Amino acid sequence: MYKVTVALLATLAVAAALHIPNVRTGATDNAHITGPEVAQKQKLVLQLLRNVGQKNMYAELAALGQSWNPKQNIDRYANQYAVKNFVSMWKQGTLPRGEIFHVYNDSQLKEVVALFDMLYFAKDFETFIKTAAWARDNVNEGQFAYAFSVAVVHRDDCAGLVLPPLYEVAPQLYLHSGDIMEFMSAKMQGQVNYVKMTNWTAGNEITNPEQLLGYFTEDVGLNAYHAYAHLYMPFWLNCEKYGITTCQMRGEAFYYYYQQILARYNLQRMANYLPELEDFDWEETIKTGYNPDLLYPNGAQFPNRPAQQDISSIKSYSIEDLKAIEMRIKDAIDSGFVLGEDGNKIPVTQYVVGMRIIGNIIAGNQDSVNSRYYGSYTAMVRNLLALIMDPAMEHGVAPGVIGHFETSLRDPAFYILQKNILGLFENFKDNFPAYKPDDLLFRGVAVKDVAVDQLVTYFDLFDIDVTNAVDVASIDEADKINYVAKAMRLNHKPFTYKIKISSDKKTSAVVRVFLGPSTELTHSNFYGEQASDVYYGHPTADLERLRNYFVELDRFPVDLNIGDNLVQRNSREFTTTTGDEPSFDALRRTAESGHSVLSIVNRQCGFPDRLALPMGHKAGAPYSLFVMVTPYGADEHDHVKDIYSCMGLMTTLDNRPLGFPFDRQIENYGKFYTPNMYFKDVLIFHKDSSSANSNIYIKKNVNGFDADH
Ligand SMILES: *[C@@H]1O[C@H](CO)[C@@H](O)[C@H](O)[C@H]1NC(C)=O
Ligand SMILES: *[C@@H]1O[C@H](CO)[C@@H](O)[C@H](O)[C@H]1NC(C)=O
Repeated sequence: MYKVTVALLATLAVAAALHIPNVRTGATDNAHITGPEVAQKQKLVLQLLRNVGQKNMYAELAALGQSWNPKQNIDRYANQYAVKNFVSMWKQGTLPRGEIFHVYNDSQLKEVVALFDMLYFAKDFETFIKTAAWARDNVNEGQFAYAFSVAVVHRDDCAGLVLPPLYEVAPQLYLHSGDIMEFMSAKMQGQVNYVKMTNWTAGNEITNPEQLLGYFTEDVGLNAYHAYAHLYMPFWLNCEKYGITTCQMRGEAFYYYYQQILARYNLQRMANYLPELEDFDWEETIKTGYNPDLLYPNGAQFPNRPAQQDISSIKSYSIEDLKAIEMRIKDAIDSGFVLGEDGNKIPVTQYVVGMRIIGNIIAGNQDSVNSRYYGSYTAMVRNLLALIMDPAMEHGVAPGVIGHFETSLRDPAFYILQKNILGLFENFKDNFPAYKPDDLLFRGVAVKDVAVDQLVTYFDLFDIDVTNAVDVASIDEADKINYVAKAMRLNHKPFTYKIKISSDKKTSAVVRVFLGPSTELTHSNFYGEQASDVYYGHPTADLERLRNYFVELDRFPVDLNIGDNLVQRNSREFTTTTGDEPSFDALRRTAESGHSVLSIVNRQCGFPDRLALPMGHKAGAPYSLFVMVTPYGADEHDHVKDIYSCMGLMTTLDNRPLGFPFDRQIENYGKFYTPNMYFKDVLIFHKDSSSANSNIYIKKNVNGFDADH
């Protein structure tokens, strides 16, 4: 998939002339990777991920696996050590089937990386599938599904293949325990069809204000987006080892990915009048508790974290170790150089290089210049939090939701932690001067006007196929049962925006569109007392204070003519978001009938389009739409174009940092504002859809604030 996307985007960037490309529906560009051969490959990939908790029930594939012996076929692998390494680990005993796979557990991680190596270095697709079929029945199912999925994303011969929706591969990690148990009991009673409304946090009585955000933090699409992004850039992936040449912006992409997730989360907090996130502090407890109400696929419970939980050292490392690493990172940022493996000083004072080096260090990924000294910071902090309920591992408590990419966005503590991690990046960025007018101006070009359709959010129902969560006796049986969980999800009406741009020349440009808090209304008390001290009515609530809350909706190249230009785009064309993926079942049927699934798939990895807008209010909640037009600047190659990522958010069209222009300090609005920018005040409305589904409880408004409008 990654290769497809990059090829596609590269083509579009060049072919931007005269019309705005539609990145979202560019499937026709994939002609070379469609056809029966691809459909056949796709079929095998989907079959291998079906009911992974059970042994392979596809007789042909199972037989392939049984007759395969990786070591006896070692010449079929480009890296023979990988085979010897994994097979010897496996013979000594890797994680048994049925156990929880935790990617932050060192020994389990070693095993899964070794398994991935074997899958990745298989010389051809046939060897890959045979290896996968072998591993499918001989290795822990969590480790298999993970290593196999990462391999599908990264193998050249898997270009054009898509993974099924992750929330349908392992529905247990996305749906509340009561829902899953109900499906299991329906299965035991022999029911063939079972459809149920999911138990929705925000639909229940709210006992903790943080639960108001359940519609966002527990959204299956959002959580799958996080899990999926990690399949693209796992922290353990060493670009050199795997010959991946597009990792130059890995550190920056890590930053921006989470910066934007946090910004989106914060806009949802504002929409719900929740106060600003608390700061993370090693000396303090975590104030906010969280009860995930989730079961692992093997039936174990995800632990509940009560409010005011202490943070403790774990067996593998202590809080002091982490503080020391944090100190080293801060020292590097302040001093302007990091220490290389042999103690050499590597400067980080130039933005692009510095961001790469610092970013890799903070992410703690395998491209870090010195992981012995700087550790694997992000993974270590998350692991410590994941084990918070049983740090000494004395009580057999399973890791918490923060320990898994599929589930971590559910926990408020994850955002608190992430804010702290992003704070390190901000320390780094604040060492660079604010943008000067020359960095921001586009001489001769001005944004004259911006018009937007009415922005409306609402809740809709979405069907999730949960067949993979129940045990079946055969594939025939699995094909017959129809188990559907109906989940309530935030959505918005598609909308179009129009931009009037004047230009005194024929030129290429890049348009960026952001949504953020309204600067106009920050001084009023619109948001009520609860938040007035926090974001709003705050005397210093200026753009510098708010810039980190701007989310990027769209970024695309455009050709301008002399005079007025009208640019019109629909929200479905946004380059940073993507629509729903077809169900596992739809993908499988398409592939099994010999057709390529690409025609029915939108881009796979992107922020869910449905969540592009924060939840509105009945009376309209004020936000700012920000538009900026800058020179295309494709000739400057400081910032590589070919970037390691799965989505438009990270696609650089020009030579500007991700997050530009909000990524640097804004000294004052007057110095920042140039004619090629435009702030448009918009209102986001929320439509109460409960009358249409009268038997379903739908959240009407938040905190009763809208009630009297
Ligand atoms: C890692 O997982 C293994 C099981 O594979 C377990 O024995 C070990 O205690 C775990 N280690 C840590 C530090 O969690
Ligand atoms: C829904 O979930 C809540 C909290 O997780 C629980 O208290 C409640 O009993 C559940 N309701 C149903 C019908 O499962």
